[in-house]
Amino acid sequence: MKIPLDRQAAEPVYLQIRNSISHLIQSGGLKPGDRLPSIRQMAHTANVNKLTVIEAYSVLEADGLIQARQGAGFFINPPARSQPKRPSTFAPAQQVIIPNGHATSFLEISDAILQAESQPDIIKFSSGFPQPTGLDDLQRIARRAVKRAAERLFSHNHPQGDPTLRDQIAQLLVQLGLPVTPDNLLITNGSMQALSLVLQLLLQPGDWVVVESPTFHGFLSLLRQVGAQIIGIPMTTSGMNLELLEQYLQSHRPKLIYTISTQHNPTGITTDLAHRRQLIDLAEQYDCLILEDNAYEWLSFGPTPPPIKALDRCNSQGSALKGHRILYFGTFSKTLMPALRVGYAVITGPLYTPLVERKLLHDFHVSIMSQAIISEYLATGHYRRRLNLLRAMNQQNRDVMLKALETHFPAEASWTTPQGGLFLWIQLPPQTNLAALAQAALHHRLLLGTGTAFFADQRGYPALRLSFAQPPEVIEQGIATLGQLLKQQC
Ligand SMILES: Cc1ncc(COP(=O)(O)O)c(C=O)c1O
Repeated sequence: MKIPLDRQAAEPVYLQIRNSISHLIQSGGLKPGDRLPSIRQMAHTANVNKLTVIEAYSVLEADGLIQARQGAGFFINPPARSQPKRPSTFAPAQQVIIPNGHATSFLEISDAILQAESQPDIIKFSSGFPQPTGLDDLQRIARRAVKRAAERLFSHNHPQGDPTLRDQIAQLLVQLGLPVTPDNLLITNGSMQALSLVLQLLLQPGDWVVVESPTFHGFLSLLRQVGAQIIGIPMTTSGMNLELLEQYLQSHRPKLIYTISTQHNPTGITTDLAHRRQLIDLAEQYDCLILEDNAYEWLSFGPTPPPIKALDRCNSQGSALKGHRILYFGTFSKTLMPALRVGYAVITGPLYTPLVERKLLHDFHVSIMSQAIISEYLATGHYRRRLNLLRAMNQQNRDVMLKALETHFPAEASWTTPQGGLFLWIQLPPQTNLAALAQAALHHRLLLGTGTAFFADQRGYPALRLSFAQPPEVIEQGIATLGQLLKQQC
């Protein structure tokens, strides 16, 4: 197999190998069941180091395109399960939202969810987290982590995070095409803390901030808390409406644009490369920063475009932001355990040091135990295996949910078909009484993620964010009940 390589290109060689093989699979040049050349053969023919081939093959494995069979080599996987028949008609007509009224606080929303979730036998369609799996691994890993971290537990540590863990996260992010060094990384108590520290540093009360509409409700609450004014630009099926964005950049001169470019929360939409480039062009033209919050990046079922941060260019002539316009946020809450509270931010340029200082003043650093557990997951390969498992489970469960929706939901409802993440976003008929639906659902032990929380005015259009990170039988039963409740309202 001949793989064309450009050794002068900015793209690392292992990613070039991965992309060529991925292209061959997609174009039919490699078929399901075909065996890839061994690592040694590939290294020889491509004239690269064996480690480069190992890295390329492990990314292909993580993409779900190939699998290693013990002692036999690497084989092409069958294509992802066929998609359900009903095409998505998801295309809500929506206005730009500039809220000016009272909003329910994040505390009230979280409290209500925690209380409802504590009831026995409840189906948590509202959940934002992966299914709890691999508890045996956790016990072994935690024991080893305690041993490794023991000495450091008796002193304070680096505010920017454990150097080994930063190194590991940097290596992980390079796989996305994001050239990061440990010196660009800040480890925080969940990505929520990183977002909060950044907003406190950059915003004054009254500053304008653009968000996608709908968007992650936690970020909306952070904005309210710092007194920012919010502009919600409607999401289309391909991402934030860029025409409307430009109008509001011109008229309101916002300081920040907040985007979840891959596996968007709540819609599950991933923007393409062209959309990402246009967004950067607009940010440069109107001189604002982009916060790219890709909490669900690692839960994609197949290859996705590189993060916007990877496209950050150096052509903002004379600006201190040159090449540093985009801040990228990630977390282990969606792939491992939310309660460990470990997230990270990639910050290049002059904002890094003031943010580390803020982190230090805030709480010194993230718990060494939590960092050591994550580090151990990464060092032992358990993390990669877990990602593969989660993606396979999630994809299967997404399909079960799509099929159940087709069978049980009224024809006027429509939904997105996410290629990863944890959620389906469902646009309901306009006459739906969402509050009554949620109440009736709770009566049947179904906890719903109602769409209202994700809009800046806490209204938007009637919608649901449903988590497919549930066992298949639970999804089938829950969606059938929900469909009946909806039809009673129509
Ligand atoms: C888009 C997005 N960003 C950030 C977070 C916060 O994650 P963490 O647990 O890392 O603070 C979430 C959690 O729901 C999220 O959906």
